[in-house]
Amino acid sequence: MNFKKNKIYIENIEAKNIAKKFGTPSYCYSFNKLKKNIQSFKNNFKSINPLICFSVKSNSNLQILKEIRKFGIGADVVSKGELLIALKAGINPKKIVFSGIGKTFDEIKFAIEKNILLINAESESEINEIEKIAKNKNKKIDIGIRLNPNINAKTLKKISTGKNEDKFGIEELNFLKILKKLKNSKYLNIICLSVHIGSQITDYRPYEKMISVVDKIIKKSKHKFDFIDLGGGMGIKYDNKAKSLNYKKYNLIIKKFLKKHNVKIIFEPGRSIIADTAVLLTKIIYIKKTNKKNFIILDAGMNDLMRPALYGSTHQIIPLKKNNKVINKIHDFVGPICESTDKFLSLKKYQKVNEKDILAIYDVGAYGMVLSSNYNLRTKPPEIMIKKSSLRVILKRQKLNNII
Ligand SMILES: Cc1ncc(COP(=O)(O)O)c(C=O)c1O
Repeated sequence: MNFKKNKIYIENIEAKNIAKKFGTPSYCYSFNKLKKNIQSFKNNFKSINPLICFSVKSNSNLQILKEIRKFGIGADVVSKGELLIALKAGINPKKIVFSGIGKTFDEIKFAIEKNILLINAESESEINEIEKIAKNKNKKIDIGIRLNPNINAKTLKKISTGKNEDKFGIEELNFLKILKKLKNSKYLNIICLSVHIGSQITDYRPYEKMISVVDKIIKKSKHKFDFIDLGGGMGIKYDNKAKSLNYKKYNLIIKKFLKKHNVKIIFEPGRSIIADTAVLLTKIIYIKKTNKKNFIILDAGMNDLMRPALYGSTHQIIPLKKNNKVINKIHDFVGPICESTDKFLSLKKYQKVNEKDILAIYDVGAYGMVLSSNYNLRTKPPEIMIKKSSLRVILKRQKLNNII
């Protein structure tokens, strides 16, 4: 996304023309940004040569997964559907890890049949279920166990996953007990310890703590793991003032850890790869002026982009054409959905805009389209990939006929 003569371009195409061609709301991705993000993620951790498994929950568009695969990246999946789409995208099963606290019998069986790299189990009951299936198939299965390291990730409360009060992973004492119990299991091979403490993390120190907990537990258990899966969670800058994660420090911490432990590192990044590759183009339907505020009523709603309503997160909203006329009044950017939480942003001032103007909601590539719904019986928007001067519809706009 860049400005030329006060107009937004996505790669070489003026965003206004994309909106004209495909209508609004529409998700628009830049291929070049995706490529750059992958290259810089790889570069940041070049010295530790990790296995990178893209977190499919952050974006499960088949065409995007196919592009990501071409960079040699694997997948982190959390359902049979995500596993199926990762395989359909051509991702090597030996680069797929399966996370999640509620995998069903059918999902575990399917994952075993597809010979994926490993299933990251999150409870003793799940481990028993995997063992049962393995016994039935008379096969020894590689698994990981997700540790709950009881770490505060210092991120939004609703996307924190690494504290004991969170539902994820197994706490230290139980973790050690289970390891001991399964030491001579005929059907399970515990090859991985996994952790994931939350998302949108911009401070390296929670990661530092997480790694020191992992280090301690490996020493206590005396178990030989082949992989340590450090999850994802690397944050992005949703606005210019936000902090960004110090990758150099994080990489150094891991390097130090690897001097003590001969393991392969797995990462499961989602947001850091895909979030800032996309904008959601939306049209102003009406402007409702009250004494206190201007309500900018958009044609995109919380059904198209759920993050603000779900987590209270904010995304920048930028007009496709900039001007210098500033209106000093509160502007609430809201959708058409019949819910008061259907609000994207509230600003103290904004440039003068008019009905029918198009705006771009920024950084919506992760947890954007995947969280969209048909709430209020609205169709889901299309997804469009921009590559230099070419446009490709990578998911068509839903038709009302298909959902009624
Ligand atoms: C187990 C696991 N791995 C990876 C991710 C991806 O996280 P992010 O998109 O913040 O990198 C998540 C998301 O919360 C997760 O739950």
